[in-house]
Amino acid sequence: MAEALIVSSDAAATPLRLIRTSDFEAFASELSEAERSWIRRAQFAAKSGEFAWLPGADGHPAELVAGWDGGDDLASLGGLPTRIPEGVYELKTEVSDLQLLGWALGSYQFVRYRERDRAPAQLLIPARNDADLVANMDAATTLVRDLINIPAGDMLPSHLADEAIQVADANQANCRVLVGEQLLEGGFDAIHAVGRAAADAPRLIDITWGDPDHPLIVLVGKGVCFDSGGLDIKPAASMRLMKKDMGGAANALGLAQLIMASNLPVRLRVLIAAVENAVGANAYRPGDVVPTYKGISVEIDNTDAEGRMVMCDCLALGAEDEPALMVDFATLTGSARSAVGAEIAAMFCNDDEVAAGLSAHGDRWDDPVWRLPLHKPYAYLLDSKVADTVNSASSPFAGSITAALFLEKFVGSAPWVHFDIMAFNTRPRPGRPEGAEAMAIRAVFGYLQERFGG
Ligand code: BES
Ligand code: MN
Ligand code: ZN
Repeated sequence: MAEALIVSSDAAATPLRLIRTSDFEAFASELSEAERSWIRRAQFAAKSGEFAWLPGADGHPAELVAGWDGGDDLASLGGLPTRIPEGVYELKTEVSDLQLLGWALGSYQFVRYRERDRAPAQLLIPARNDADLVANMDAATTLVRDLINIPAGDMLPSHLADEAIQVADANQANCRVLVGEQLLEGGFDAIHAVGRAAADAPRLIDITWGDPDHPLIVLVGKGVCFDSGGLDIKPAASMRLMKKDMGGAANALGLAQLIMASNLPVRLRVLIAAVENAVGANAYRPGDVVPTYKGISVEIDNTDAEGRMVMCDCLALGAEDEPALMVDFATLTGSARSAVGAEIAAMFCNDDEVAAGLSAHGDRWDDPVWRLPLHKPYAYLLDSKVADTVNSASSPFAGSITAALFLEKFVGSAPWVHFDIMAFNTRPRPGRPEGAEAMAIRAVFGYLQERFGG
């Protein structure tokens, strides 16, 4: 596939200028009569999403101008690579690394099972931008999107483990995978219970990387490769998109790759529970009591609240190493989608300073996160009569909060942030094609870079 961002080109590059909407009058007043008529014919008013050609001395199109609302975001350039003619372009306007990234992310198409619609227009990377940073963020996002977009039949726990091993190998990291019965030997009964009914055995993926003297960051990801709901089976409409239920794992892996490629001075541990929540004769059942790695017994209220089950063993394991910060990503609840919609990551955090830093970097990197409360008075909703806790509250109220409160039981005192994400764009936006999406990883990366980045 043609790269959307390139370092150099043999072909002559077409100049490309961004025109602020608010500068349109000034821009138009400086054009020649001929140029103005081209602009008028294209109905160009420098609104975001609009573009127009300007003629050269020979009367042929020579320069492209694109409307810009003045924002520092993915959308500034994100709509162009798939809409302007193929070819190589060269920016005449300074842009940020984030805007440049928008071009790369906007050119993404999932083409594993079909031809590309068209080659993306290519952009020369300006000398003043951080080409490595943009390339690393692009590669991480592409990895996240591909892993999620690949259908469950081709992205089962064994495949996800293979992908994790590849990422680890490419970055001189270590990767250990516990499979099937080994989970029971290790005490990871909750992961095993959720995944045991599937033909592809459940797994715990454990990546470690970095200098032992550096502060430890633990990343945890929900890797439910398909969520049928288990015995409390989902209705068809709710099940349709559930190949994306390993989106948390994909984001954890993508962020890990970004951290390793950038050589951040941190130590990493990545814990991913890879399972399929299947229906079967040996499936875990509503009413079952499942032991966990932490020693907390869990009564199953609903087998469709499987994400928190597999996450809780990972969080308990990750907390043992007393990390400087533990970050988890999970497509955990429909309730988080009701609260903040598909396009914002719901954030839960037990440390106000960390939460504020993550919010700021979410804004900085056009990666919106919104904090919801770990509201202790709702803890009663998880009370069980036969075990230490239920896995899901019988009341549908505050579903993403009670899910987060459940996870918190397994974290102890470690500084911890939990992202309840959609991991999927339900509509296309510039820089954000419809389909799988990375969420909250730029916010976390920016925060880690500022706090630990040396
Ligand atoms: N993977 C789903 C949550 C989900 C659904 C995320 C749709 C994004 C979009 C999760 O495993 C689930 O089924 N959650 C249930 C929990 C309930 C049974 C307590 C939910 O949110 O309905
Ligand atoms: Mn579920
Ligand atoms: Zn799920």
